[in-house]
Amino acid sequence: MSASGQTNKDLFVQAKNILKTNSRHDRYTVPSDRLYPYQWNWDSGFIALGWSKVAYERALCEIESLLEGQWKNGMVPHIVFHEYEEDYAPGPLDWQVPKELTHKSICTSGITQPPIIGSVLYRLYQGRDAQHDDKARFTELYQQIKSYHHWFMARRTKAPAHNLCLSLHPWESGMDNSPSWDSLIKTVPEENLAQFRRKDLKGDNDAERPHDADYAAYMSLVYHYRRIGYDAPDLLPQAHFRVFDLVLNSLLLRSARDMAHLSSALGGDDSAYWQAQSAALEVGIQTLWSAEHEAFLNRDAITGELLAPVTNASFLPLYAKAATPNQAAALARMYREWRAIYPYGVATTDPRADEFEMQRYWRGPIWLNTNWMIAEGFAVYGYDDIAAEIKADSLALIRKHGFYEYFTPDGAKGLGAPSFSWSAALALYWLGEEQA
Ligand code: DGY
Repeated sequence: MSASGQTNKDLFVQAKNILKTNSRHDRYTVPSDRLYPYQWNWDSGFIALGWSKVAYERALCEIESLLEGQWKNGMVPHIVFHEYEEDYAPGPLDWQVPKELTHKSICTSGITQPPIIGSVLYRLYQGRDAQHDDKARFTELYQQIKSYHHWFMARRTKAPAHNLCLSLHPWESGMDNSPSWDSLIKTVPEENLAQFRRKDLKGDNDAERPHDADYAAYMSLVYHYRRIGYDAPDLLPQAHFRVFDLVLNSLLLRSARDMAHLSSALGGDDSAYWQAQSAALEVGIQTLWSAEHEAFLNRDAITGELLAPVTNASFLPLYAKAATPNQAAALARMYREWRAIYPYGVATTDPRADEFEMQRYWRGPIWLNTNWMIAEGFAVYGYDDIAAEIKADSLALIRKHGFYEYFTPDGAKGLGAPSFSWSAALALYWLGEEQA
């Protein structure tokens, strides 16, 4: 029993109820009823982890329904618009993705998001009931996610160095208004945005959402890519935002490693494919180390500059198993310095940086999906104390405020959407692992 009077069992039940409420047609889960009424790519990966602890079959459906929106070229889009919702922008009419790009003529967005689903599929396989004859189902999902990897390596790396993937939009990194993008956002040529109205500002949340100037750049990039063609072979050189992004590349590398295990568990013979991809990404991620900052940084692929300040993305190469032991030790030191400033970790931006903002989305607050990956990463390198502390902080924040989308690192507030699906799902996963 905690100080708030809620047992782990209480939290587990509340979290399960949130997933049930946010579930649609028993097939997919919206991140939140109020703010995000469609299916998002990396959200569904984390959400599937949560479902696996309460309704295993439903976890597989979550991945399958996301892949209904997969494009013929292999890309898995960042949003799948299963049903039209008035109250969200940009919606299908803003994106205008040609339906023939998708396998099933489903409306989707035109960009992707950090690829967590391969790693999730491997975990689902590990956690399955071995009595169940579902190998064919896993094999099909494995092939679909393999083609997603193939798309990244074929379409998002640039010859001659195929060892890092490019992100073309802040939404592709998942960390929309990270201070990493501040200098780049200013260089995006503004399109005519007369047709676009933000719907994410609800009157009481402006201080917690990206500024209008950020949104103008997000939408200008969308309209620019729409005009060129999201799938056009010459999209990369014309893209106004080109970043070697730590989130995207770290998750892709971890997924390649996990897909290699899944392949051999399924009796396949793709080890050389995954080996080559992992080796390339590992070399690429090493080039993002900044000796000056003693941390990994995103890199602007247009100017070649590393992008300060240090953010929580800097820890993700641990999750990818791409850091050396010395780099891991430096990151552990940095984590402890941050944690000494605020009583909860892990803030999205170095709390000592000028750009740190306690409440504004990806500029300071704590998010549970990045916390989960950072904890996993530290555990890989033997920092079990840090991993345990991150998990304890995450659950303490939920106990204090509820299953919010993000939280202030001083512990004072839960922010963004309440009853947020991946916060509930990761609590379920953490608590479920304890019970196992
Ligand atoms: C997106 O679409 O990825 C944005 O994060 C929503 O705010």
